[in-house]
Amino acid sequence: MEEKIISILSKKDGYFSGEELSRELKISRQALWKHIHFLMGLGYDIAAVPHLGYRLISIPDRLYDFQVSQGLKTKSFGRKMLYFDSLSSTMDMANQLALKGLPEGTVVLAETQTKGRGRLGRFWHSPKYKGLYFSLILKPRISVDKAALITLLAGVSISEAVRESCAIEAQIKWPNDIMIANKKAGGILTEIKAEVDEVGFMVIGVGLNINNDRKSLVEGAISLKEATGAQEISRAMILQSILKEFETNYSFLQQKGPKAMLDKWRRLSVTLGRRVRISSHDDFIEGEAFDIDTDGGLLIRNDSGVTQKVMAGDITFCR
Ligand code: BTN
Repeated sequence: MEEKIISILSKKDGYFSGEELSRELKISRQALWKHIHFLMGLGYDIAAVPHLGYRLISIPDRLYDFQVSQGLKTKSFGRKMLYFDSLSSTMDMANQLALKGLPEGTVVLAETQTKGRGRLGRFWHSPKYKGLYFSLILKPRISVDKAALITLLAGVSISEAVRESCAIEAQIKWPNDIMIANKKAGGILTEIKAEVDEVGFMVIGVGLNINNDRKSLVEGAISLKEATGAQEISRAMILQSILKEFETNYSFLQQKGPKAMLDKWRRLSVTLGRRVRISSHDDFIEGEAFDIDTDGGLLIRNDSGVTQKVMAGDITFCR
């Protein structure tokens, strides 16, 4: 109901009479007032004037499910969305919900996280209302050894969404950093529940810096606001765009295979053609990152000309 009220009120920059609204929504005037009151409590600025009716003045910068679903152009991604003001990590909640059988495309989103996590056990700083912090439940029909492709697909989809909605050159640093002007704007964390060698479900966690100011960002990080010089960027619009790109790329991958996605990844990559050092545990590999394999592994040619494939690790550019 809230979604419908906001959608009607957004249609014109004037008043809707209570009678008009309750007729259109097929609810009593009293019920209408309760919903309006609820919306006001969520931060919607709605003028309620006797004899004139209701007028939407401003909407809060919040990612309420009914707000995000307005203008969402997907079939299933984000159609079920669970919104939280604060969570320890959206990954934990999404994993629990996936175990309970929530469908593919479900999004768990929080305005802040107290224990947001990144790859390799790192902490993901999640300042309230500044960025996007969400996890998406997926149930791809693929074997576990191909699961890395979904992380690459997420990187491609986020970069495409940022490019289209903000007109900035977002790129991808293998395996999953979203880069703008050689600084990190976002990251992807993939967790898998495997069943024998098939994927049971995957939880794809996305963290993206959007309205963070320079002084609140660490060295080497950037936000979309900083990159564009914009006053404020609509987080809802970026989320809608990511979910749309993700859904389109995901269904293409499932139907036609990874070729098109890998080609896009190659074009968006800041890693290919660079000399890299990849560390995992106590070991490291150094050489030129020259291609990405059909299972998502990074192909590295070492100084003796030998090719090695890396599926995971911490990457640094050597020059
Ligand atoms: C990385 O670059 O290391 C990945 C960062 C992933 C952060 C996101 S924020 C939403 C989701 N919940 C988490 O705890 N982590 C991911």
